[in-house]
Amino acid sequence: MATILALETSCDETAVAIVRDREILSSVVSSQIDIHQRYGGIVPEVASRQHVLTLGSELEAALDQAGIAWEAIDGVAATSAPGLVGALMVGLTAGKTLAMVHQKPFLGMHHLEGHIYANYLAQPDLHPPYLCLLVSGGHTSLIGVQDCGQYQTLGQTRDDAAGEAFDKVARLLGLGYPGGPVIDRLAKAGDANAFPLPEGNISLPEGGFHPYDSSFSGLKTAMLRLVEKLQAEGVDPLPVADLAASFQATVARSLTKRAIACALDHGYTTLAIGGGVAANSALRQYLQGVAKIHNLRVIFPPLSLCTDNAAMIACAAADHFNRGHRSGYGLGAQSRLDLTRVMELYGE
Ligand code: KG4
Ligand code: ZN
Repeated sequence: MATILALETSCDETAVAIVRDREILSSVVSSQIDIHQRYGGIVPEVASRQHVLTLGSELEAALDQAGIAWEAIDGVAATSAPGLVGALMVGLTAGKTLAMVHQKPFLGMHHLEGHIYANYLAQPDLHPPYLCLLVSGGHTSLIGVQDCGQYQTLGQTRDDAAGEAFDKVARLLGLGYPGGPVIDRLAKAGDANAFPLPEGNISLPEGGFHPYDSSFSGLKTAMLRLVEKLQAEGVDPLPVADLAASFQATVARSLTKRAIACALDHGYTTLAIGGGVAANSALRQYLQGVAKIHNLRVIFPPLSLCTDNAAMIACAAADHFNRGHRSGYGLGAQSRLDLTRVMELYGE
């Protein structure tokens, strides 16, 4: 058993959590959304400055909530890749410093591995192998999970991430940032069949389509053309709920089709979902329905563990810690790092 204190500052959430293997002892998340909303998107330097302001009080709150002292903590972890470098550096430097001062082992963590591990917090009996659909603001991929630190990319987006598509379409519809939650809410009152939209198939040179890769930039452009056409026809106000519902259903269908095909082709019986877009109600409903037909077990973490948090990072760190993985103090922040290279964080 490992009790890990983890810091997560890769983007616009400042988070601290204490986890014992797969049990959350405390989890504190402070979102900066209100601050970035003014700019219509994340301003990296503002995010870093805000992490500096918030991290100290969150650390105190996490220790307080867990009701444990430093003696009971086995290791300190901090997200070191991928993400906004300035933002990552705040948590990474704080994490290393805490580890040094309290003489604990330090582990640098991969943010996307954290999103995968949110599923273990939701279902502590989950064990590899299984397929994970990772759908966040910056990433969309199908990952074959073989073991802790052992990942295979089986499918991915060729352009925009699913969350990015939600954010860009929301901006186009004048709905503000972040786009996912507001589109999800408005879509409930809309007709998902109102507008036919392209699912973003990737053509193969030998003919046919790639079974698992996707594209969302074509869908985004189709939304732009559709809005322009409606405006040219004098449609005012725009049917925002129908547009949101049609767009959301297309993304849900596209992701579901690829995830199910990939699971069946590779013989996976469990499909886990991770990342902010895993909070999407249409995706949850549609994927669960299709998975049931094929007898696949589907795991969706609770909404609070889909979006960025430090509990998922601590959970991943506990698994690495138990296997003796440690990071050096020379570890730097990296804006990009493929999930298949996660063991490089532990000098392997
Ligand atoms: O995983 P996350 O919190 O941060 C990254 O690692 O990127 O994901 C943030 C993304 C944003 O693009 C946001 O619009 C999207 O997740 N998101 C959603 C929903 N909630 C958050 N997208 C669709 N439906 C939602 N309910
Ligand atoms: Zn994330």
